[in-house]
Amino acid sequence: MEVIIMPTEEKATLLASRLIAAQIRRKPASTLGLATGRTMENLYAVLAEMHRNDGLDFSLCRSFNLDEYIGLPEDDPNTYRSYMNKHLFSKVNIDIRNTHLPHGNAPDLDLECEQYENRMKECGGIDLQLLGIGRSGHIGFNEPLSSLASRTRAKALTPVTIAQNAPLFPRPDDMPKRALTMGVGTILEARRILMLATGAEKADIIAKAVEGPITSMVSATALQLHPKCTVIVDDAAAEKLQGKDYYHWIFQNEPEWADYR
Ligand code: F6R
Repeated sequence: MEVIIMPTEEKATLLASRLIAAQIRRKPASTLGLATGRTMENLYAVLAEMHRNDGLDFSLCRSFNLDEYIGLPEDDPNTYRSYMNKHLFSKVNIDIRNTHLPHGNAPDLDLECEQYENRMKECGGIDLQLLGIGRSGHIGFNEPLSSLASRTRAKALTPVTIAQNAPLFPRPDDMPKRALTMGVGTILEARRILMLATGAEKADIIAKAVEGPITSMVSATALQLHPKCTVIVDDAAAEKLQGKDYYHWIFQNEPEWADYR
């Protein structure tokens, strides 16, 4: 795992966007694993700007999102499908037929999850998986005690996650209490992982995820097992990390990061 600490949220978001852009330029037919949430809104705005101003070309990309609420019709404004259409897919030249999210209102959810995993495999697996982190330590919606070997499946959301996301619904009580999510095992199969976390409210959970023991109580700790995982945080989210000086030193000295400093 590599940890990169940027002074501001804006700079952290820009760095994450530049790494995604570099992946797409290196391999135009990349399969991207995408996340939703407040943290990603700014990042998608930067990617849309890179498409508009610098010709960043999504035309050959495929995408698979991490998760989707169960029980909402696909065109409900609160689905993650609607979020992705609004924040990214409508703003870049990705072919909408190449964008995938699990269908949270499928009649047979187990079958839907199995088919979602198969579609990912048919596309050659995820080249770059983008992740946020919830205050419960979840990645995707892998709430505490999710098996570190789990695959795409239905999960009940924890009260912490419901408190985190319900305010985004016009009527908070309408927030679904379950979601389909890629599993921790699914996520760990991505060839590269990029986590972005910003703001003081993420400082405790980032310290646990990066420096704590690996435990299914904090699914993000499983990222410590991944051979190529980069965690980008701003100063506020890095506040509780013990090894800050060391992480800065690596970023300054590792040739891989020369173009990004
Ligand atoms: C959503 C997802 C979640 C979010 C996490 C952080 O697709 O994967 O794990 O990344 O809940 O959400 P925000 O950015 O709203 O704090």
